[in-house]
Amino acid sequence: MPLSNICASSLDSYDILVKKYKNAISNLENLDKLGACLLHDVDATKMKHHTDLANRKFDRIIFNFPHAGFHGKEDNPHMIRMHRNLVQGFFRSARGMLRANSEIHVNHKTNTPFSLWNLKKLASGCSPALIQRVDFNVEDYPGYHNKRGDGSRCDEPFPLGKSCIFKFGFCPRAKKASKATKRWGSMCNKSQHFQTVPMPMQLHSTSDFNYHRRNHTVNRIPLHVKLHPIIPN
Ligand SMILES: C[S@@+](CC[C@H](N)C(=O)[O-])C[C@H]1O[C@@H](n2cnc3c(N)ncnc32)[C@H](O)[C@@H]1O
Repeated sequence: MPLSNICASSLDSYDILVKKYKNAISNLENLDKLGACLLHDVDATKMKHHTDLANRKFDRIIFNFPHAGFHGKEDNPHMIRMHRNLVQGFFRSARGMLRANSEIHVNHKTNTPFSLWNLKKLASGCSPALIQRVDFNVEDYPGYHNKRGDGSRCDEPFPLGKSCIFKFGFCPRAKKASKATKRWGSMCNKSQHFQTVPMPMQLHSTSDFNYHRRNHTVNRIPLHVKLHPIIPN
């Protein structure tokens, strides 16, 4: 399945990714062979200014399990603030990169202390509104291996526990009218599909599929990515 409408990015540089994750090279090569645009050194809170993203619009911008790193216990208020700042910065950057009727998806754990991040409230502070929340079942994503992403055990999985896909959008009346929000969410359910891949963050573009290939040198790395199946929203 061609992935030419997918842009996959990481905060880490290519060299750091390769050092941190044993399957990085093969995963990136697979993505590259399938035509995905690969970007590294992309800070999700500043991505709207990134040279390769500034003029692009996406219909899905997805951040799987955002986390600001292991600098203290998860219930430490300072850590919760760091995680919230990351997600809020991501929302602020992503909101200007969407096409009309598009969505931002965040996969996130829903047990305490992760629920204290309060994604719904975070989003309302920077204009996308929560339109739908669905259970995240890892078995729906064969080949996806979640990663801690930081510290000496970065290549190890973290316990997923109970997690959800939080879907945010810009329904004009979303803040005021929950009925309109639900209706808009169900319209999306019927009409759109998306696909995710095991990278820290994914941007899905529907335009100018070969933009990156034409304009930039991509790190050429082997590929055998285990792609998630296309799933209905
Ligand atoms: C818990 S890991 C999840 C990794 C992967 N998305 C997954 O689903 O397994 C958290 C990820 O957030 C990324 N991250 C942290 N701060 C970031 C930022 N400012 N911009 C982009 N990614 C960031 C880290 O690089 C790390 O990969």
